Amino acid sequence: MAEITTRIPFVDLKAQYSNLRDEMNAAVLEVLETACFIGGPIVERFEQEFAAYVGAKYCVGVANGTDAISLAAKAAGLGRGDEVLVPANSFFASAEAISNAGATPVFVDVDPVTFHMDPGLAAEAVTERTRAMVAVHLYGRVMNLKPFEKLAAKHNLIIIEDCAQAHGASIDGNPIGASGRLTCFSFYPAKNLGAYGDGGAVTTSDPELMQRLRVLREHGSPARYVHSTVGWNSRLDSLQAAVLLVKLPHLHGWNRSRREHATKLCAALEGSAILAPAIPERNQHVFHLLVVRCSERDELKRFLHQAGIETGIHYPVPLHLTEAYQSLGAPGRGAKPIAETLASEILSLPMYAEMSEQQIVYVIDALRAFIEHRHLSFPAEFAWPETLAN
Ligand SMILES: Cc1ncc(COP(=O)(O)O)c(C=O)c1O
Repeated sequence: MAEITTRIPFVDLKAQYSNLRDEMNAAVLEVLETACFIGGPIVERFEQEFAAYVGAKYCVGVANGTDAISLAAKAAGLGRGDEVLVPANSFFASAEAISNAGATPVFVDVDPVTFHMDPGLAAEAVTERTRAMVAVHLYGRVMNLKPFEKLAAKHNLIIIEDCAQAHGASIDGNPIGASGRLTCFSFYPAKNLGAYGDGGAVTTSDPELMQRLRVLREHGSPARYVHSTVGWNSRLDSLQAAVLLVKLPHLHGWNRSRREHATKLCAALEGSAILAPAIPERNQHVFHLLVVRCSERDELKRFLHQAGIETGIHYPVPLHLTEAYQSLGAPGRGAKPIAETLASEILSLPMYAEMSEQQIVYVIDALRAFIEHRHLSFPAEFAWPETLAN
């Protein structure tokens, strides 16, 4: 059997750094020289530039994306006894942040095509205690918020947008965040716009909410040693802001590259047993993750691993079935059938802006080889096709 020597990582942060090395090193050194590590002009500059980028008036830098959602919930006045609709398929933090703010996540099943919260089911989940919803722009695909805005208007609900995976995405030419409502970002290193540590932000165009967020992130303190409320210690630090300032001008190009890679990979899967996501025209999906569906997902994952291709699963356990929310009384297996099916069928393919043409072709060849050989027993006596072995 021919030996596979190619390795395609799931993300490649080293490739990104090597393209930015000189500029990045200078920016980090500048922070060290100024010794201004928390707050100050670099954080303020990033907040201004990021607010302008997403089309909101204000940006409040915080310690991570989870805190961004918790602080947004607190700033919106959510707390004990309030129910918040959260999609059953998302990263744990979309719900955890709501719990940490003292409110109760209520899980809603998702749409089988977009994988976003299903608006009809969201309407059914509203009770007299429902106060808000977390709209997660999952995988980098913008949610169509129109039906949720109608629902929000009918029941006086707050929409908090979880944009942790969708920096720079837009719909009908409107960037995410331009709505001016509470929009939450994570700058976890592997995100489309990632720091070199934890970081996050909330953008809004509401001056009152901005002011509340600034106080909440800083020990509930509107001025030094004045504490008007019990807040948090959740600040974006200057080193992370400096890193993000270097990266922000590249975000648009990186997102374009991700879309181009995704377009090629999805086109290669058209009509096959591996279901690729639709690439929406009016929605500039930024492919934080390229998630495909396959009824033989575990086999496919194993096959790609054998070919040297790293993949991920986002997410293997729907939120209502996590141990944490089961112990808090969330409904059991069978309650959110779409999210539960997806959890066993979805696979995230490698995706990063710096992927080379050769790497994309390699992944496409491996996917085609799987489709061709899926009825053979694998991996026992499988022989790699010539195109993959090297
Ligand atoms: C959808 C979603 N929401 C929230 C978060 C939380 O962000 P952080 O890891 O910065 O706390 C993440 C990050 O992984 C995420 O993917």
